Amino acid sequence: MRFDPSGPLRGTISVPADKSISHRAALIGAMASEPVRIRNYLDAADTRSTLAAIAQLGAIVEDRGNELVIRGCGMRNAMAPANPIDVGNAGTLMRLLPGWLAFQQGQSFMLDGDDSIRRRPIDRIAQPLQSMGARIEAARGRYAPFTVHGAPLRGIDYELPVASAQVKSCVLLAGLVTDGTTVSEPVPSRDHTERMLAAAGAPVQRSAERGGGFRTTVGHTDQLELDLVDVPGDPSSAAFLIAAGVLVHDSRLVLARVGINWTRAGFLRILDRMGAIVLTDSEPPGSFGAHEPTADIDVRNAPIKGTTVEADEVPLAIDELPLVALLGCFAEGETVVRGAAELRVKESDRIATVVEGLRGLGADIEALPDGFVVRGAGRLRGGRIDAHGDHRLALLGAVAGLGSETGVEVVGMEAAEVSYPRFAEDVAELVA
Ligand code: S3P
Repeated sequence: MRFDPSGPLRGTISVPADKSISHRAALIGAMASEPVRIRNYLDAADTRSTLAAIAQLGAIVEDRGNELVIRGCGMRNAMAPANPIDVGNAGTLMRLLPGWLAFQQGQSFMLDGDDSIRRRPIDRIAQPLQSMGARIEAARGRYAPFTVHGAPLRGIDYELPVASAQVKSCVLLAGLVTDGTTVSEPVPSRDHTERMLAAAGAPVQRSAERGGGFRTTVGHTDQLELDLVDVPGDPSSAAFLIAAGVLVHDSRLVLARVGINWTRAGFLRILDRMGAIVLTDSEPPGSFGAHEPTADIDVRNAPIKGTTVEADEVPLAIDELPLVALLGCFAEGETVVRGAAELRVKESDRIATVVEGLRGLGADIEALPDGFVVRGAGRLRGGRIDAHGDHRLALLGAVAGLGSETGVEVVGMEAAEVSYPRFAEDVAELVA
């Protein structure tokens, strides 16, 4: 698919629903005792995989047009399906679901997914779940397909070796049936699981640690009850239109009702340092509660300058770092991202694919073991970029094309189906 240099993007638009929150609403809905209504559930391939998975486990998913109703299994009554659970391309599903399955006593569940999923490590969840008492058997020791054997679990005090919201969430879900389980994270990561569990009535406590991290504890929970989840717009999907608005001459656009949970707002703070004009409300860093704040985001085109992103900021902007590289191409001066080795185990090795992809479009960019350095030229030529089956790379190529001099052909744009299927249509609407 081609994305040619674009005229101004103007108008107000809603972005797709939050992928992280949609996955969690479906999973916690499946664990709940009473029906859970979900409004604005993300309609994309990743989150359809989650609905299919919970249906295989015995939940009933009713699509009422304006909302989904999940009639769950209850916490301890997931039914082991005859066939493996197919997580498709969804890393979040692959890493969160085992937290629930791990305490389905006497039952075994096999999970598998696409080629990209089979290259993404699961030892990071297997290790804590095994220390809680579950048994996990994985291909080549650490990859899908893998089997979770449910067992009675004991509480642990777990220090995350990698800053990962997926691992934290998995341990917290498993911790619901223990006398108390604590996860410490040296740097904060997205906290949607904690917020939704608190909303569902689980005892959740969070405290700040010296050095900026958090300790989150869940206590024993007999049942979860969530009435209605209204999913905000996804800040990571919004980020592609924000970047387009910043880069494309004369643009002015408003993204309506986007999630502004501070643990997802790192990209907005980076943009601010780059001098971009992006106006919105913000949630004070460190906030915690049982709700997800939203706001409209108002973006204008303006010149930008380079910035440096260090390790403590990485988890708060992890999925937007490819866009920081792209913006760096258009900025004045150097843009550096460090402490982001996690990018290598996403849907693709996002350090390698971003560097190779942007270089192919004319960027002056170099890979670091844990990030990249971009020397801004104030512009980008254009050319061809391969998505490597990675949705965020496909969307990156599309935005690059809109801001480029000669346009960009994205090979494998269909990868965007997992999070933002309507990107090209949304751009067309804003340019019209
Ligand atoms: C996610 C957490 C992040 C992020 C992913 C979604 C989540 O991954 O990159 O797209 O919903 O918890 P890690 O937890 O591996 O950092």
